[in-house]
Amino acid sequence: MADCIEKVLKQAEQQLQAVSDLDTGFDTARLDVEVLLATVLKKNRSYFRAFPEVILSDDENEHFQSLLNKRKNGHPIAHITGQREFWSLDLDVNEHTLIPRPDTETLVEFVLENFPQEKLNVADLGTGSGAIALALASEKPQWNILATDQSEQALTIATNNARKNGLSNVTLKQGSWFGPLEQSRFDIIISNPPYIPQQDKHLQQGDVRFEPITALASGEDGLDDIRYLIAHAKEHLLPQGWLILEHGYDQKQAIFDLFKLAGFVNISQKDDYGNNPRLSAGQFCK
Ligand SMILES: C[S@@+](CC[C@H](N)C(=O)[O-])C[C@H]1O[C@@H](n2cnc3c(N)ncnc32)[C@H](O)[C@@H]1O
Repeated sequence: MADCIEKVLKQAEQQLQAVSDLDTGFDTARLDVEVLLATVLKKNRSYFRAFPEVILSDDENEHFQSLLNKRKNGHPIAHITGQREFWSLDLDVNEHTLIPRPDTETLVEFVLENFPQEKLNVADLGTGSGAIALALASEKPQWNILATDQSEQALTIATNNARKNGLSNVTLKQGSWFGPLEQSRFDIIISNPPYIPQQDKHLQQGDVRFEPITALASGEDGLDDIRYLIAHAKEHLLPQGWLILEHGYDQKQAIFDLFKLAGFVNISQKDDYGNNPRLSAGQFCK
């Protein structure tokens, strides 16, 4: 017979300690096992505090142990559950999408704070799970948002996420960077492109190992895609339109210089929640 919830959680937490510690530098083992058990039991995590003595059925225990084994083998929690919350939206994710990061919410916040307009045409290039585009669509139902990605598999996930969150003001198109925009021009072009140097050792560590390399790495210094986006955005921005990019914490000066070189004005930069430089925005002055 299986054990009670608290005992199962404690044992699993001990088994997971090494893996979770390695991945994040923080002890997330307890959180991880609670999220996995919540997935199996289809309950909120607060249920475990209210009913620690409830005995798991054999089926529930077996299902939980199979998810725990995946985590022990290093698979990210978001891939095991197939879910990640972003801006209060429940998003499906899989091995074809980046797992949306909390720091990317800084970008959503920046856009909402600085663009109070009722109607705008916005493009989100490299949308992945649809995180940025769908967060904006949920806050600004009258904005027309085009979300693109070169990965068809990622777009399938993003399309499903739009549907399941009831967001109809997002159009999804497949293609490389500005390709799907054709002749259209936009008030805002946003992107969280790949920006990690291809030799960076972090690409071989933790959860990142299981994410698509095409979502993460961009040439020797991590700036290949950003250089391209900054160089060509003006061909797709309306006069006074804005390009807003997420980037690495150590790329702030390089991005500022690239914006300046390309003739952007009113360049502004913002830190993420951990006080690391995370986004840059520039205005196209025709
Ligand atoms: C860092 S991920 C960002 C995903 C999502 N926007 C987010 O913030 O969670 C970068 C995304 O850019 C996409 N991508 C990479 N190269 C691309 C290209 N040449 N054209 C369009 N999308 C590209 C990847 O498939 C991936 O979904």
